[in-house]
Amino acid sequence: FSSINQKIEWDREIRYTPLTEVSAFFLETLKTRVTNAPWRLGYHIQPTCGLMNDPNGFCFFAGYYHLFYQWFPLGPVHGLKHWYHVKSKNLIDWIDCGVALVPNEAINSHGAYSGSAFILNEELHFFYTANRRDTNWQRSCSQVIAKLDSDGFIYTVNEAISSIPSGYTEHFRDPKVWYEDNTFYAIIGAQSSINYKGTAVIYSSRDGIEWKMLGEIQTQLDDFGYMWECPDYFTLDFAGETHGILIFSPQGIEAQEYKYQNIYQSGYIVGSQINLHSLSFVHGEFEELDFGFDFYAPQTTTAPDGRRILFAWMGLPEIAYPTDKDGWAHCMTLPRELYLCNGKIVQKPIKELVNLRKNRLFHNEIVEDTFLGRCQTFELEASCLNGFTNFQLVLYASSPEFNASKEENTQQLILRYDAKIQCFIIDRTNAGIVFATEYGTTRKLYLSKPLTHIQVFGDYSSLEVFINEGESVASLRHFPSFPENNNLIWNGRHAKMTLWQY
Ligand code: FRU
Repeated sequence: FSSINQKIEWDREIRYTPLTEVSAFFLETLKTRVTNAPWRLGYHIQPTCGLMNDPNGFCFFAGYYHLFYQWFPLGPVHGLKHWYHVKSKNLIDWIDCGVALVPNEAINSHGAYSGSAFILNEELHFFYTANRRDTNWQRSCSQVIAKLDSDGFIYTVNEAISSIPSGYTEHFRDPKVWYEDNTFYAIIGAQSSINYKGTAVIYSSRDGIEWKMLGEIQTQLDDFGYMWECPDYFTLDFAGETHGILIFSPQGIEAQEYKYQNIYQSGYIVGSQINLHSLSFVHGEFEELDFGFDFYAPQTTTAPDGRRILFAWMGLPEIAYPTDKDGWAHCMTLPRELYLCNGKIVQKPIKELVNLRKNRLFHNEIVEDTFLGRCQTFELEASCLNGFTNFQLVLYASSPEFNASKEENTQQLILRYDAKIQCFIIDRTNAGIVFATEYGTTRKLYLSKPLTHIQVFGDYSSLEVFINEGESVASLRHFPSFPENNNLIWNGRHAKMTLWQY
């Protein structure tokens, strides 16, 4: 922008204007540009153009899984938030349903923020944060009930929480609904106006339309960041007992040596179930859900067979990504199934993913140093019953020989394991275009027991690593500058290995 007035004009006329027929024309041009852009993903949910962030309204309804997400259509910026809609019968093949929520009502004129879905009278309803603006463009939020109409669009039904309850600041958003004992409950992320700490508040409703505040959840995390975004409460059973789980994305947690490495974190606490009278929640330590570079704002739902499934945004706020220059940004993680085991969440890739396996490129019972194959969209499963010895797994390399004298040969994404200290390392220092380097270019995970199993899902610009059958997971984006770099090389000993092209 050559002047501040030009920026304000752009902000008001494009960045904070809902999609109209005029901008839809521009959108088609942008879509064409994005379709041909580098680093588009092969089998992940991604925006056709513009910026995707949080998963919203994830649910199973009328034979389909529905996933909505935060979407700014006209470029890779956090502008006026719309909701985009995709649906699937099997969590693998997604049908593009287009934009579902265009914020063109007075109540959401400054954007439709995150929220969740619930079913009422056999219709899909939502509880989400609507931002309105006044004539001076000052933003204020309310929490609204909305409904998916037969035309595929979401409209407001009721302004359920019209103002922020006293004791909280304007950081009050992201209602997530659950149903228990014939009552709807919702948990909402908040910031206390007394001490400016992050927390969450619980509401209840008999009819799903009118909601009343029950109060603030009573946790043992009194001083844990300044805002808890996207809370999600549900239960999981373990050893015959039902446990309460609260997932949330706290902001303002300081990095520690190997913890909390990203700009903002996402994790969970597990305890006995929330007492819905006293709101007390007795729980254990906060655990991160993912130790990779790009993971935020997860949301879960239950599948018809009772599985608890999670999607997350494979990206983070306030970080520029290399795809920005082409007019799009971000994607979803793969869906994961959650289990509880000894107080910790275990996350496994959903079983439906095996349907993505095409050619089997490599399979061997006992592998020593070897070239595994050439591919960029793949699943690699490796196991070693007695525990892996030291290894290095090189992905997206230019040639099996690693001739480091050429520039393209120095680009590679590396997974390493140091058996002596049981440390798993992800190194994206030389994986391609560098970005977000202020948050480091390696991630380390110290395992509590030897490494025996890894499952790696690679896509053109993403990688998801499941460790020891889902005890830990790392998600990340990578942007190789040489798309022909597609060699996978194993330097290590004794492992059983299978590689599938996706
Ligand atoms: C999390 C978040 C939410 C908010 C939404 C806006 O990434 O900041 O708290 O509802 O994104 O896009």
